[in-house]
Amino acid sequence: MKSSINMNDWINKLDKSVMLKIVDRVKETSNVDTFYFDYRLNSRPGQFVMLWLPEINEKPFSIAYDTGEGFGLSIAKVGAFTEELFQKKKGERVGIRGPYGRPFWKEKDAKNVVMVGGGYGVAPLATLAEELAKEGVKVHFISGARSQDLLLFNERLKKLKVELYTTTNDGSYGTKGVVTDPLREILRQEKIDLVYCCGKEQMEKAVFDLCEEAKVNAQVSVERYMKCGIGVCGACSVDGTGAPTCQKGPVIESATLRKITEFGKYHRGGSGKKEYFK
Ligand SMILES: Cc1cc2nc3c(=O)[nH]c(=O)nc-3n(C[C@H](O)[C@H](O)[C@H](O)COP(=O)(O)OP(=O)(O)OC[C@H]3O[C@@H](n4cnc5c(N)ncnc54)[C@H](O)[C@@H]3O)c2cc1C
Ligand code: FES
Repeated sequence: MKSSINMNDWINKLDKSVMLKIVDRVKETSNVDTFYFDYRLNSRPGQFVMLWLPEINEKPFSIAYDTGEGFGLSIAKVGAFTEELFQKKKGERVGIRGPYGRPFWKEKDAKNVVMVGGGYGVAPLATLAEELAKEGVKVHFISGARSQDLLLFNERLKKLKVELYTTTNDGSYGTKGVVTDPLREILRQEKIDLVYCCGKEQMEKAVFDLCEEAKVNAQVSVERYMKCGIGVCGACSVDGTGAPTCQKGPVIESATLRKITEFGKYHRGGSGKKEYFK
């Protein structure tokens, strides 16, 4: 009997990594560095790549910069894999495959938008803000962190043609408070067409709840544990829809977010066990 699985399709689907040289490395904060590569990735803001350290592991990272000629990844040193990566010097190579995932998208009638970013989540939004501002869209950009030393891309944001709001929990820079404080005010005072959001999931959930109250549509980047990055392994599927976020996300709009029952509550670790957000 003839197999219904075409092996060539599968082999083509399992994209291979290209070994790219780290052409530059810039320290952004105490635990975040940006790694630059000369390679035409042709990505859109919100997409990610899988970064491979041979014989160690492969992990997903959002694309922080894409100039057309090259790209950059802003990476926080948080555990075993990223500690290995931080040993790599300029000139050494790592494997990259992608870009993958559903990016943020422009909505034709959205003329007044808010972007809310935290940590490395600010980077894809900064690229999108640049594009939208050029097209005449009014962009309110809210960037937040616990304290000034953890604020990412502040200088980059100051150069954008956006209304910039910066919050820190301890008041060491910008307004003391959290990103939902200015968001609540903006939603109260202006007619906002769309809110874009990328950051820690509890922050995203608080932003999404405010958008629901104000009946404003949102696009939110939802990060889940990813192994293959191409919709094969199921590691990144979410309860409620069962959809793999590496393909149907990471950027997900309000109508689908409402159906994802784990959003803002828990995610699954590498073994599939639930890990609740604290
Ligand atoms: C779409 C997407 C985009 C991301 N973009 C960035 C980025 O731009 N910059 C950045 O610093 N980090 C990003 N991450 C998170 C990054 O993948 C993890 O921080 C990294 O894998 C941690 O590995 P570790 O071994 O150093 O730490 P660990 O100690 O293994 O893990 C630390 C944290 O990272 C999470 N994590 C570990 N492995 C994975 C994995 N395979 N997939 C998803 N999460 C994982 C864990 O759940 C845990 O919360 C992104 C994740 C996703 C899903
Ligand atoms: S990471 Fe394998 S299906 Fe998404």
